[in-house]
Amino acid sequence: MSEKKILIVDADVASRNFIARNLLAQKYEVIQTGSGKEGLIYAWRDRPDLMVMDPTITDLTGEEVARKLKQDARTANMPIIALSSDPSVVRIKSCLDAGFSEYITKSGQAVPMLDETISRLLGITSAITKHGGMLMVFLSAKGGTGTSSICANLAMTIAQDQPEARVVVVDLVLPIGSIAPIVGYEGPQNIVTIADMLVDETTPEFFRDQLPELKLWRFHLLAGSPDPESSNHLKVGRIWDIVAALKESYDYVFIDIGRALSKIGLPLIQHADLVALIISTDISTVSITKTLLDYMKNKGVNAASIYTILNRAAGLEGLSKPDAEKALDIQIKAAMPYLGSSFAFANSHHQPFTLKFPNDTASFVFQETAKEMAALARTLRTE
Ligand SMILES: Nc1ncnc2c1ncn2[C@@H]1O[C@H](COP(=O)(O)OP(=O)(O)OP(=O)(O)O)[C@@H](O)[C@H]1O
Ligand SMILES: [Mg+2]
Repeated sequence: MSEKKILIVDADVASRNFIARNLLAQKYEVIQTGSGKEGLIYAWRDRPDLMVMDPTITDLTGEEVARKLKQDARTANMPIIALSSDPSVVRIKSCLDAGFSEYITKSGQAVPMLDETISRLLGITSAITKHGGMLMVFLSAKGGTGTSSICANLAMTIAQDQPEARVVVVDLVLPIGSIAPIVGYEGPQNIVTIADMLVDETTPEFFRDQLPELKLWRFHLLAGSPDPESSNHLKVGRIWDIVAALKESYDYVFIDIGRALSKIGLPLIQHADLVALIISTDISTVSITKTLLDYMKNKGVNAASIYTILNRAAGLEGLSKPDAEKALDIQIKAAMPYLGSSFAFANSHHQPFTLKFPNDTASFVFQETAKEMAALARTLRTE
């Protein structure tokens, strides 16, 4: 299945040959060199899908190579794995800062770790390439800010606004998803059961035909983990090919990652078409959001793709929109009013807010926001 090309850069010939043999046996195409300078040339000329490099090479440091690759549009998205003979924490940090995706120390465990990391990162790259459906990732810095309710309602509004578009909502909030209870889905299928299926079974056609469709909500659902015990069994490594397959059969893939900025969340937000960041108006959420924004910036998330939604989830007290903008040093894109008990009411009746309360100001905010988000995602694709 894989004709993926991997570039190995390692000054130690024996080590390089050993890695190459292992990768060739897995049907990867392999190119290799012992020099950092040549590594750069090969990366730009041959456009490998991934690079494995021992950062202790000497003609250029691994960090220099990684920085150059990340700064060049041709290789900015290519994952780089450090397979290093230097186990020091200082080195690990400087490599990760320079743009390496992962750091593996050469040891007895290195080969299985390298194999797992390569298949995970290659899976991520195919899940995140900018083709197929739009990837709209919803998150917040703190829980209880309304992320799941807003995600489900905006997905519904986009589906309503674009009746020909196919929309799926995926709940990746661990340990317990909450989209299913909001939309009233009680079936047996969820992300844990789907990730347990064989790769060959979870094809784009499978997701197109077999995911439950919620008539009132106008989208298909890939429900979240139903309980913490199931969540412990989630095969996290499968997320990437699942997202890739979903993007092939849906025009919009909405993903609720809640505040789970884990190994799952980060690659998704780094490569989402749009990152919807839900901010509630209390001071502590705003200040943690600032930390989250700085972190995302640091991790190369395109600032233009971050769509901030201020949600007055906690009531009327708290910061105003200008206060929040000042504290965060960003412009807030949309502001959701306080809805009293009506949001919870719509949720507990498993109904989209805009259907239950079509004349409420918030319904107009949902409609405007949905249009704007879809338009922004389209614009960013064409840039
Ligand atoms: N603007 C609002 N006005 C009134 N209530 C709101 C508003 N936004 C959210 N809520 C209520 O806040 C509660 C939490 O919402 P929701 O579950 O969507 O948040 P969340 O950020 O996904 O939480 P979690 O961290 O548990 O995933 C719900 O009862 C919802 O109805
Ligand atoms: Mg939630």
